[in-house]
Amino acid sequence: MLKDIKEVFFSKEEIQGMVSRIGKQISEDYKDKNLLLVCVLKGSVCFMSDLMKEITIPCKIDFMEAKSYGAATVTSGVVNISKDIVYDISDYDILLIEDIFDSGRTLEKLTQILSHRNPKSVACCSLLDKPERRAEGVKLELKYTGAQVPDAFVVGYGLDYDEYYRNLPFIGVLKPEVYTEIKE
Ligand code: IMP
Ligand code: MG
Repeated sequence: MLKDIKEVFFSKEEIQGMVSRIGKQISEDYKDKNLLLVCVLKGSVCFMSDLMKEITIPCKIDFMEAKSYGAATVTSGVVNISKDIVYDISDYDILLIEDIFDSGRTLEKLTQILSHRNPKSVACCSLLDKPERRAEGVKLELKYTGAQVPDAFVVGYGLDYDEYYRNLPFIGVLKPEVYTEIKE
């Protein structure tokens, strides 16, 4: 697995620094609110599990799954919800927890869906932000982010290529030869 990595963008320690900074800020901003963290599966599992431990105020957690990618490294543009929150969210301040904000369509769609259920508020937190890739018409802005990344396909710390590499403890880019074929 390590032999497939061309370059490390963020080490385990650098990621931990970002996560801890975001956790502190959330704890401050939401101290008088009713926080529900919603992890966007699967890419955000590592971020979510580390971030929730850096949050020092009471909160609940839940999970949603949205799919806009298959094996390809380019977005299909269509976002499907394959796992949803089942209970009433009207009493909660929702914070969507995402791994990477790319075209922006996933978080925009999830924000729209959740807003229709009349929560107290909905905001978005993404560990990484790829501003160059934002799709036309996407207006959503992140409330919290760890770092911006250039237009390169990154893996590790939850982020996958064809479902692999999620278990790398750092975030990096793959060697070009690893992308043998694009299946979509
Ligand atoms: P968006 O809807 O285009 O913003 O895409 C969001 C989803 O695409 C993320 O949750 C990731 O699962 C996936 N994605 C986007 N860029 C990357 C990347 O560089 N590496 C791995 N997954 C990515
Ligand atoms: Mg993915």
